[in-house]
Amino acid sequence: WKAPYPPYDPGDPKGFSYETVVRRWPIIITGVIDRIHRLNHDATMASRSHPSEPGAGGNGKNDGEVNEKIEEGKGIIGKASKLKYDMARDRALEKIEDDGGLNVDIFNVELEELVKEGKGSWFKAPWLFAECYLYRLMRTWFAMTKHWNNFDPFFAQKEDSFRGSAAAVYQLASMMQELESEKEALIKEPARLEVLWDEMIQMCLWGNATDLSLLTNLTHEDIEKLQTVEKETRDARKEFILCDDSDAAWEALKSGSDRVDFILDNAGFEFFTDLVFADFLVTYTPYISRVVFHPKTIPWFVSDVNPPDLDSLLRALSSPSSFFSTPPSPAQASAVKALVERWKKYFDDGSFSLSVPRETGYGQKSGADFWTDPRAYWNLHLDDPEGLKSLEGSAVVVFKGDLNFRKLTGDVKWPCSTPFAEALGPLKGRIPILSLRTNKADVIVNVSEDVARDVERKDEKWRVNGKYALILFCAKDGV
Ligand code: F6P
Ligand code: MG
Repeated sequence: WKAPYPPYDPGDPKGFSYETVVRRWPIIITGVIDRIHRLNHDATMASRSHPSEPGAGGNGKNDGEVNEKIEEGKGIIGKASKLKYDMARDRALEKIEDDGGLNVDIFNVELEELVKEGKGSWFKAPWLFAECYLYRLMRTWFAMTKHWNNFDPFFAQKEDSFRGSAAAVYQLASMMQELESEKEALIKEPARLEVLWDEMIQMCLWGNATDLSLLTNLTHEDIEKLQTVEKETRDARKEFILCDDSDAAWEALKSGSDRVDFILDNAGFEFFTDLVFADFLVTYTPYISRVVFHPKTIPWFVSDVNPPDLDSLLRALSSPSSFFSTPPSPAQASAVKALVERWKKYFDDGSFSLSVPRETGYGQKSGADFWTDPRAYWNLHLDDPEGLKSLEGSAVVVFKGDLNFRKLTGDVKWPCSTPFAEALGPLKGRIPILSLRTNKADVIVNVSEDVARDVERKDEKWRVNGKYALILFCAKDGV
């Protein structure tokens, strides 16, 4: 299916995609280079300081293997440096090599099409394709080595940023503990549940305000501010939500299916808010007993959730005093403990599950890698049993974040007043879609021309700076 409007691409120097290719991607790639450089340096120092000790380079490897790993690391650094050079000169995107992982053909067929149209280079390719391609390409660098095959170059960054989220984590854990004392009353009074549903949606929405691919713009203080979860702050932020379909989504939640799906976005704090939301659904509503979380199976857009990030998060919450930058008070510690124990139980008894095996590392075969396909969701096989088809039985499918929104709407230049249902193309009505998105890319739909003009006057960066948001719902009947 082809949308009636062209895709965003970096051809326009005023667009956010131009800034991304010129400024943000090089910073992200430099971050990867620095990380490997650092690990190589540490391994070299370790083997130098205890040269005769087997495995001084770490990970129980002998010196030959340590050297081999260091050489492979240098190879990756070389590829990353070359990529930065090529990108800045608008060179052609090369075919993705067959690294035994998924979606290689899909990327290469799409790329061939673009080449035919004269759009096969970094500044001419549609932004959505080029950005997905970038992360798939980086994966090949690691997949094709012996020692870095299961390495996520963004893992440390994800953990570090979660470490700094202590205040917001403790607040939300305490809020969930307070809810516990009201459990009986809540179950009897669905009207109060609906109020909480709205609160949960907003908490989970603003959890998306920060992502590490945008960290190239934000300071640490900015992030703490964005994570503030006090009710007054949330209320004040309501004016930044340009459209709010929470009520319609609440009706869908009561549709009879007992399952909700989360198409995840970022690890760390945002994933924490997803789990809080899911916990609310399973523990407090009579409608939902099962939540399925869909992570990415390769490192993706810096901070997206990969299966190992779940264990990392549960580990962090299991020992908050040693993990977080600020230790919890005794009361906060007990609130966090109650939460994490319940979540572990939910993962054990199947109330919560990942859509891929938890031990899936990065890019191993685990069925179709549906969520790291570069195409708009409307162009994916709607009948794929591992993809959209598997979501048809869900009461609500929550698509988290900006990239998911770009894929739902194809990242094309819709007039901003286009109804959400129309922007979904053939996807409309196939599954109940709730999109929780803070605006971090140019594409906008479902916002009237008047509102858009008004917001533009107040803040010309409203489409991309993460301060404004959309809560959009399209039901299974397409309304
Ligand atoms: O380039 C900015 C960006 O990469 C957006 O294009 C992308 O959609 C976003 O960052 C990632 O945001 P999120 O984590 O909310 O999907
Ligand atoms: Mg993301």
